[in-house]
Amino acid sequence: MINKILATGAPPFGPHLLSVSGLSPEVLTGILDTAESFLEVGHQTVKKVPVLRGKTLVNLFYESSTRTRSSFEIAAKRLSADVINVSPTQSSVTKGESLLDTVRTIEALGADGLVIRHPSSGAPAFVADRLRCHVINGGDGCHQHPTQALLDLFTIRKRMGRIEGLKVAIVGDILHSRVARSNIMTLARMGAHVRLVAPPTLIPPGIRTWPVEVYHRLDEGIRGCDVVMALRLQLERAAGGYIPSVSEYARLYGINADVLDRLAPGALVLHPGPVNRGVEISGEEGFADRSAILSQVEFGVSVRMAVLYLLMGGGSEEAFPDKGGKE
Ligand code: NCD
Repeated sequence: MINKILATGAPPFGPHLLSVSGLSPEVLTGILDTAESFLEVGHQTVKKVPVLRGKTLVNLFYESSTRTRSSFEIAAKRLSADVINVSPTQSSVTKGESLLDTVRTIEALGADGLVIRHPSSGAPAFVADRLRCHVINGGDGCHQHPTQALLDLFTIRKRMGRIEGLKVAIVGDILHSRVARSNIMTLARMGAHVRLVAPPTLIPPGIRTWPVEVYHRLDEGIRGCDVVMALRLQLERAAGGYIPSVSEYARLYGINADVLDRLAPGALVLHPGPVNRGVEISGEEGFADRSAILSQVEFGVSVRMAVLYLLMGGGSEEAFPDKGGKE
């Protein structure tokens, strides 16, 4: 089993994972193939392999998280690493300790890897420049969420059998979405045709330079698509101020069985979670066979195992002595 994983021959990347922007199709495919070999670990009676034994991973999340933080924790534990979670609300951050002092303290405690989620775009890159340990971006502001895009890619490949040539519609609050920004890069790089579907106010400025087609009407945007990725309306980032009302948004952009049957009958439906039920998605039971939302969560663990293994499993220090891998 371990030999199979070690033999996947995925090209190394790193030493950090801050953005998907530098990842070639070969590296992306290598990560997905490595994740595929880790899937099996989740089905063993003893869900553990010893590839990161003796390593310590720290989760430092300055924003709320259910999936990403526990997924990294489970992934690291399945690789036999030690994991601790530092919560800013219960740490010296509440006493005014700076981000830099906090991460330097975590490194001095012996962390080999740090997963950081932060409301400011660029915070993971800022700390990666100043630390020796591996830094993984668990979501920074509206900028990037690399492991989410990787697990979305994995889920699409697993459920649809391929990525190249698929029509993928990303629907909703693109403006505030780090998930969208990462997914657009990875999907386009793997040969998918990406459409963005949102009211004009939720489309970021500068979109003309992105490898996407933009639609403002749901019926035009998702018609004939193979994959529909709904995004959460990020009300904590003031998304409510960009639309007339949440119920109006739900009426015009909400995904439900009726909309899917009419416009994209075979489409796979993704959502990074958490879902605002009745807003982005309603009546999921009506299209349960086409919903991949829990598959995304399940596959996310294997994808994060692959990322942790490829970054921290040895070799990357030698391969990238000058800390490459940043934008
Ligand atoms: C996303 C995030 O936090 O960026 N969630 C996640 O990581 N699964 C998307 C969101 O919060 O809407």
